[in-house]
Amino acid sequence: MLEFTRIEEVRAAARAARAGGSRVGLVPTLGYLHEGHISLCAAARRECGFVVASIFVNPLQFAPTEDFDSYPRDLVRDLGMLRAAGVDAAFTPSIEEMYPEPMQSFVSLPELSRVLEGETRPTHFQGVATVVLKLLQIAQPDSIFFGQKDWQQTAVVRRMVHDLSVPVAVMVVPTVRESDGLALSSRNVHLDASARQRALRLFGALSAGRALLEAGERNAGVVARTMHGVLSEDPAVRPDYAAVVDPKDLSPLERVTGRVLLAVAAYVGGVRLIDNFVLDVSPGGVRELSPL
Ligand code: PAF
Repeated sequence: MLEFTRIEEVRAAARAARAGGSRVGLVPTLGYLHEGHISLCAAARRECGFVVASIFVNPLQFAPTEDFDSYPRDLVRDLGMLRAAGVDAAFTPSIEEMYPEPMQSFVSLPELSRVLEGETRPTHFQGVATVVLKLLQIAQPDSIFFGQKDWQQTAVVRRMVHDLSVPVAVMVVPTVRESDGLALSSRNVHLDASARQRALRLFGALSAGRALLEAGERNAGVVARTMHGVLSEDPAVRPDYAAVVDPKDLSPLERVTGRVLLAVAAYVGGVRLIDNFVLDVSPGGVRELSPL
């Protein structure tokens, strides 16, 4: 595996791969990799002749009050995992390489960034959209791969790519879960045994929402309140939101028909966790949508 820390080096390697006839795939990450990231690399590997994975804890997407400093990091282990996943090039820039001067240019999507995650993290998606556009400019991939767990991020990136005519296919790969349903997340490392158990409430809330839809409930408010109720049954779990929205523009729904995003966020043992289901609700039944 090639390892680059400089923008010009990774850009040249991707350009050479493209000139040699390979499709280039980019898997952007914050590092502290888990099987969810590896599933993104595997999807990129299936589709692209040259796969670049970036590891960069992007300060722009963390507010001063958030966990930038304590965000878990283990570069040596991450590089081993990328090598084992058959990634062709790892890009691990420093903050100085990515932002040599204070940034003056930002990408903002005010409406998509204001809701759900944006209510508690108002500057987060500007930081995400800006670094993703920068990584796209650096590697100029044919496809970029994201996990479904961060659904709002995928909606933001899809819209940015559309609005700014960026020539890249945005691929979304299903969330990888533990056998009991807990969505994999780098932040799970901060959960002790009891918080780990409590964190299952997120999957439980989403499952309760889905069960209601399967039983014929179509009132989005009822589904959202039920999910919120499941989260708040445990006093040690502090729900942030439980939402039933349009998966594309994240606007709230009154009645559920067709595609729907069930999304939850909660603090468990001091750790903020998110999860979602993307469903297709039709008279024939309820099925999970394959996000790719
Ligand atoms: O989802 C993430 O890991 C980050 O938001 C991303 C896409 C790597 C941008 O920093």
